[in-house]
Amino acid sequence: MYSAAAYSAAVPRRPAPDVSTPVSELHDTPFLRACRGEPTERTPVWFMRQAGRALPEYRKLRAGTAMLDSCRDPAMVTEITLQPVRRFHPDAAILFSDIVLPLVAIGVDLDIVAGVGPVIADPVRDHGGLARLRPLFGDDVAYVAEAVRTLVAELGSIPLIGFAGAPFTLASYLVEGGPSRTHARTKALMYGQPVLWHELLERLADIAVGFLRVQIEAGVSAVQLFDSWAGALDEADYRRYVLPHSQRVLDAVRDGGVPRIHFGVNTGELLGAMAEAGADVVGVDWRVPLDEAARRIGPARAVQGNLDPTAVFAPEHVLAEKVRDVCARGAKADGHVFNLGHGVLPETDPGVLAHIVDLVHEA
Ligand code: CP3
Repeated sequence: MYSAAAYSAAVPRRPAPDVSTPVSELHDTPFLRACRGEPTERTPVWFMRQAGRALPEYRKLRAGTAMLDSCRDPAMVTEITLQPVRRFHPDAAILFSDIVLPLVAIGVDLDIVAGVGPVIADPVRDHGGLARLRPLFGDDVAYVAEAVRTLVAELGSIPLIGFAGAPFTLASYLVEGGPSRTHARTKALMYGQPVLWHELLERLADIAVGFLRVQIEAGVSAVQLFDSWAGALDEADYRRYVLPHSQRVLDAVRDGGVPRIHFGVNTGELLGAMAEAGADVVGVDWRVPLDEAARRIGPARAVQGNLDPTAVFAPEHVLAEKVRDVCARGAKADGHVFNLGHGVLPETDPGVLAHIVDLVHEA
């Protein structure tokens, strides 16, 4: 007998895209093909932080609205996500949001302070702090789902990337109370209270899974797990204290049927271990050439990266040479998505980003 519940349990989580965009049209875009390690007619390119501070139209729109308020306003999220797409014609869009948004959504007293980053009123350093972290439910971030649905319809055949912060990077903000260069308090908790540490990372993994599932169910074509600060750890500590949790996040969203990208900064020594966490695509910062990165990552995984974000300030011929070098080395991997090695710097001339898109497509 037909049962709607049984039917929806049997089908993949991702709802059918708008009829105006045939599934195959998105499915066969250079970005999604490269993520799956399939040949592409051109190297796909998008930029981490392509939506945001480098764009005058973004600064104008955001004037007078706090960062977190803008993330909770679907119309604003939609417009900000589309701004760089109109300008650069990248091969993918990334949802405008922040990795700390789900923490705010479960009631963590957190503010994003201009020029500083996320600042937390009551850092999590003991069992009491842990107890304050409740699970994330889909309704907590309904505004994100709404923005994703609108964007998927607006973007048509341009894939939309959703994302979440990985357990370690979220833990660092929660434990430190804000950005940290050394992650000293985070590591003190990790080494000194390993049971509490693993409980904390388990909760943060569940929150990341919840946040990614909301976005997958609303229709994103790929997801990226940002473990921006994982490079603070040596490989042994990464394997012991972090890898199982990131692995669980990536495993839990596998049935979403969209490529999973896993990225961190300064992770040259961790690339092999990060690849074991199970993503389809491993993001690489600019410190390790992509052919060497692909060797460390191993076969059957695509790579993403890895132009130095400061290369945009180089003379044109130097920039062009660097872009071509990244493309040539990336071509040796089983799939390459061009990106910067970390986010677009605020001082970047948007015209240079548009030029990089052309250079990558011509390479
Ligand atoms: O472009 C902008 O910076 C303006 C909007 C903004 C974002 N986050 C967008 C964002 C602002 C002001 C923030 C606050 C914030 N959150 C900062 C920046 C502090 C500053 O003033 O420079 C930081 C470092 C965070 C924490 C955070 N958010 C991390 C570590 C990451 C992962 C990516 C990275 O840079 O390592 C994010 C994700 C993030 N923040 C995204 C966006 C649009 C999504 C990813 C992307 O667009 O590539």
